[in-house]
Amino acid sequence: MSDFEMNNFNLQREKIIDTDRRFKTINNKLHFEDVELESLAKKYGTPLYVYSEHEIVRNIREIEAAFSAHKNTKTFFASKACSVMSVLKAIKDAGIYAEANSMYEVRKCLEVGFPGSQIVFNGVVKKPVDLEFAIANDLYLINVDSIYELDHIDAISRRLEKVANVCVRVEPNVPSATHAELVTAYHAKSGLDLEQAEETCRRILEMPFVSLKGLHMHVGDQVPEAEPFAKATKVMVDECRRLEEKLGIQFELINVGGGIPTPYKYDEENGNPLEDNMYAGITSQDFADAIISEVHKWREDIAIVIEPGRKVVGSAAVLLTEVSCEKTKTFYDLDGNVEQLVDWTFVDAGYSQLSDSQHFNWFFYVFNASKVAEKHDKYVKLAGPLCDGGDYFHVGIKEEFFAVPNNTEIGDVMVFLDAGAYTIESQTVYNNRPRTAVVMIDKDGTDRLIRREDTYEDIVGQDIY
Ligand SMILES: Cc1ncc(COP(=O)(O)O)c(C=O)c1O
Repeated sequence: MSDFEMNNFNLQREKIIDTDRRFKTINNKLHFEDVELESLAKKYGTPLYVYSEHEIVRNIREIEAAFSAHKNTKTFFASKACSVMSVLKAIKDAGIYAEANSMYEVRKCLEVGFPGSQIVFNGVVKKPVDLEFAIANDLYLINVDSIYELDHIDAISRRLEKVANVCVRVEPNVPSATHAELVTAYHAKSGLDLEQAEETCRRILEMPFVSLKGLHMHVGDQVPEAEPFAKATKVMVDECRRLEEKLGIQFELINVGGGIPTPYKYDEENGNPLEDNMYAGITSQDFADAIISEVHKWREDIAIVIEPGRKVVGSAAVLLTEVSCEKTKTFYDLDGNVEQLVDWTFVDAGYSQLSDSQHFNWFFYVFNASKVAEKHDKYVKLAGPLCDGGDYFHVGIKEEFFAVPNNTEIGDVMVFLDAGAYTIESQTVYNNRPRTAVVMIDKDGTDRLIRREDTYEDIVGQDIY
């Protein structure tokens, strides 16, 4: 079978293995940062996530370069995208800061060495115990998401006699062309209405230990266009300007959140990012330009806080999974007539390894890393090991079909590209299958285990009986 989708996919495969900074092919085997992926799969077992420290650093440098027109930019990595300790450490070593979304994320960031002054705390539900931990650790910022939370911050900071630095998260009412559930600045649950900002700021100004730093927003995740960032920043800037005048204050910073997209499909000439956000649509530079141009209409001396997650780690990891089984099955109609023969390729990673991505219908380039130079010319459905009928990868190159080399066999290693963001974090132990091990390829090219696979004891250990 040969058609546009398959030809295009093979073109992309060739382009990626020939020109992508992360990959190279030697003897038909795909290498990631010069390390052979099949060998890593054999050495550490599968399923396996493999991170590249080089790529993490390159992504960070790209974001920094994009914001070079605004020197006072502070970058906080959204650790919800990947909070494996060695990944956090690599990010810290690269010189940026951390954003956390729960008390334990804050703890992990502190433990790898980010001081409180380099941590931003977000979240729609922060309980008193979370807030007390944050205030006690002198965080750079707590982004206030509700009045309920603000009252707790007031009470806790008085009791501890410690200053709590806060931003007020508001909703700028700007939609964007990402997945509906990834939109966070329009009809969303987070933050306060813009109209509540003034009253909230007034209240903060009366609180003896709460220090108001600015306003916060987050437009959405994997946003494939610059316009919403510019629009939402303008809304924020207008409101900040108004509040400064009305309340006689000067904000220290404006926090514009994250949302820089990373490409999952690379052939933008064949698709429209506004209809398919697996195309990135924009670069870090477009994101930065949209924000800086609006902020500079107001003040050039203010700090711009950004919270990128996906862009830092998305392209920095691959998921390796072994072909465990193959079968051909017949689809019949209800009268018993043959409709279609379907070739199934079973791998040892299921949606428990990529649950967030399955939920959002994510696309990944999937190659046979053991035979990567060969034409991928056979359509298959790619299935995982879980019991559910739905445990197969739904978004292939043509509807639900993926392409693999015709001679793909048991034991071959399949690789999912761009698997570094919101993947390990959302793994589950469904069917009592362990969460995977994770390997880091360090800057010097050494591979090392940075998280081991769950053991039986890890899975059963919390049960009390
Ligand atoms: C408040 C906030 N900041 C930053 C991020 C990171 O977004 P991204 O990974 O798209 O950069 C998120 C993601 O959900 C978020 O909710």
